[in-house]
Amino acid sequence: MCGIAGYIGPGRAAPILLKALSRLEYRGYDSAGICTIFGGRVLTRKDVGKVAEINSRLRMDELPGNIGIAHTRWATHGAPSQVNAHPHTDCTGRIAVVHNGVIENFMALKKELVEAGHLFSSKTDTELIPHMVEEYLKRGSDLTEAFMRTLQRLEGSYALALLDAGSPDILLVARKESPLVIGIGPDFKMVASDITALLDLTRDVVFLQNGEAAFIRSDGVKILRVDTGAEIFREPTRLDITVEMAEKQGYPHYMLKEIYEQPESLKNALRIQEVYADLVAELLDRGRQIFLLGAGTSYNSCLAASYAFSSLARAATYPVIASEFISNYGASIGADTVILAVSQSGETADVLNALEYARLRACTILGITNTVGSTLTRISRAYILQNSGPEIGVAATKTFTSQVLVLSQLALRLAKLRGKIAQYEIDEIKSGLKKVPEMAGEVLDSVRLKMREVAEKLADKNTIFLLGRGPAYSVAAEGRLKIMELSYTPCIAYPAGESKHGPISVIQEGTPVIFIAPYDDNRRLNIGSMMEMKARGATIISIADRDDREIEEISDIFVGLPRVHPLLTPIIYVLPFQLLAYYMALVKGHDPDKPRNLAKSVTVL
Ligand code: F6R
Repeated sequence: MCGIAGYIGPGRAAPILLKALSRLEYRGYDSAGICTIFGGRVLTRKDVGKVAEINSRLRMDELPGNIGIAHTRWATHGAPSQVNAHPHTDCTGRIAVVHNGVIENFMALKKELVEAGHLFSSKTDTELIPHMVEEYLKRGSDLTEAFMRTLQRLEGSYALALLDAGSPDILLVARKESPLVIGIGPDFKMVASDITALLDLTRDVVFLQNGEAAFIRSDGVKILRVDTGAEIFREPTRLDITVEMAEKQGYPHYMLKEIYEQPESLKNALRIQEVYADLVAELLDRGRQIFLLGAGTSYNSCLAASYAFSSLARAATYPVIASEFISNYGASIGADTVILAVSQSGETADVLNALEYARLRACTILGITNTVGSTLTRISRAYILQNSGPEIGVAATKTFTSQVLVLSQLALRLAKLRGKIAQYEIDEIKSGLKKVPEMAGEVLDSVRLKMREVAEKLADKNTIFLLGRGPAYSVAAEGRLKIMELSYTPCIAYPAGESKHGPISVIQEGTPVIFIAPYDDNRRLNIGSMMEMKARGATIISIADRDDREIEEISDIFVGLPRVHPLLTPIIYVLPFQLLAYYMALVKGHDPDKPRNLAKSVTVL
């Protein structure tokens, strides 16, 4: 996730764009830049760091010119650096682009442009866009045609804005999947990734839709469909919303906003870079022992992944809590050990400490993280970005589901590499994975009210049990973490089969026991455990297959979800728990965005 903005009008563009960037920083903040057109040239200032820091060094706001574009970055391709910061330009320096999204076919397109003689200076996918527009201009297209032809070749997602020093009276923008809104003023136009960045200037906006490009002059906007070139006429909408409301996109808390971002963040998690994913799979394949290492929520992703690696790739992997790694496994590791570390921040001290120990013993270190440029990316032999965008709520939500999706894709690659799975099965699973983002959106909508009711019923309980088997146990573990962190209610998560070895003695009349009971091979055993608990007076709350009448009948509270492949259980079944924890925090009067005693990134041992 990144933030983009653009301005054209009678005012000086740079200070307006600087303000817009500060409002968009929640979308990314590892580097930023602004460029304007002045005196027939593109003038650019950009660097690594937060917007205000960069501005105090480079005075981006002092750039002259009445047209400009700007960017605040959350790196996906290429580490945060001055050269990778946006805007990016073509060989002549005349065309500049800012972009939010991921161009999936950038390797092939870049190769083609390099062969045609273009010189790239950054490692970003974005840079191919100005070069391709330059190429089409060279071949005789005018700017509109060069822009449209370029867009038609891009696969993936984008919201982008482009300037051409040769045409200082027009701003070109386009959108596919990443958001983009155009603010309409009487004598100026402004574009941005979201309305927060332009509400100060105007409340009249046009929302650009997927697959549309817009050609913006200070006195008018022309919208075309990218595929057909057909013109689209759309009246502006008048917004009745404050900047504060807009920052959370209408949600009262970042946590709820991030929960509802999952259809988008999951889509981005499906866009992992092929070459790195193959490399990680190859390195995993070489390991005699494979450890999956993480803390907190990231450890729970590792738990979920051990099912995926076993069932798909027939590979035994060991999920380990990072702080336990050295004592319990340290003496057994060596050059044939592979450690796949999972960390949203890439900075968790327990994870880095274990990895440093492993590095000194010649283990292969691999990473999955949301943060390019983090320590984890620097010490990993290869790493994969989960592309979730910044997570502001302290409790991890969208980053958990994305981690599981990335790990599942890795398990699938390893399965293919080892020849453990037939091609038709790979295709089937892949098409199942592609449906996850949409399914997540449907589930969130369908269970929200129900989870609010459940939260009210559970808010005054002293203890809550969560039980599940196999992949559903990772949901129990993550559900426990979310409920504890946000509502401060002690929770006990157990593999359901183990619950008869202890937890059952704690059950009394009315003790809430939540079963994660999808329609999988463990269903019968789950029903058995439910009956055991029910016989001791427990209140049974089931999160189960929506058509499972038998479980519905046994349960005091039943929450039905769609039938899923067990690989997807951790992603789909965790969603009700995120909502439950959120609503329990509200019922108990806590701030869900800032749970007490917790930090987003724990950098102490
Ligand atoms: C849970 C949570 C924390 C983190 C843990 C690891 O909601 O946010 O438990 O999961 O601190 O952080 P990363 O993934 O950054 O290593």
